[in-house]
Amino acid sequence: MAIDKRLQDAINRQINRELWSAYLYLSMASYFDFKELGGFAAWMKEQAEEETAHAERLYDYLIDCGVRATMQDLETPPAEWGSPLEVFKETLKHEKKVTALIDNLMDIARDLDDKKTVAMLEWFVKEQEEEEESVEKVIKKIKNAGDDITRLDNELGERK
Ligand SMILES: [Fe+2]
Ligand SMILES: [Fe+2]
Repeated sequence: MAIDKRLQDAINRQINRELWSAYLYLSMASYFDFKELGGFAAWMKEQAEEETAHAERLYDYLIDCGVRATMQDLETPPAEWGSPLEVFKETLKHEKKVTALIDNLMDIARDLDDKKTVAMLEWFVKEQEEEEESVEKVIKKIKNAGDDITRLDNELGERK
C-alpha cells in the first residue's frame, strides 16, 4: 500500500515528536528521582514508555505502507522546574501541542482522502484525549495535596 510523500514526511516528523516526548518525560522523571519523589518519577517513566510505543506504532505503520521511518535529531529537553505542579503544567501544555500535531496529520490525511491513514490516526485522537485527561487529573491532585505530597507520590507510584 502506497502513501503520499507529504503524509510520509509528516508521520516521520510525528515519530520524532513522540520520541522527543519520551525524552522530555525522562528528563522530568530524573528531576523527580533526584528529589526522592520516586512515585512521580515512576509515573513519568511509564509515560515515557508510552510515548516510545506511540513512535513505534507510527514506525510500523510506515513499514505497512512500504516505506520506512527515518530518525531525526532530538533537541535537548528542559531539565529544571520550580515544583511538581510546574512539571505537570508543562506536561499538559506539551500534550496539547501534540494533540494539535495529530489534528494536523489528520487534516493532511483527509485532504488526500487517505482513509487507511485516517483510520490509523483515530486511535491517536482518542489517545490524546485520554492523555490530556490523565494529566489534568494529576494537576488537580497536586493542588489538593498542598504540602502533603508524600501520599500523592505513593499513589502515583502505583500507576500501571
Ligand atoms: Fe504520544
Ligand atoms: Fe503523550
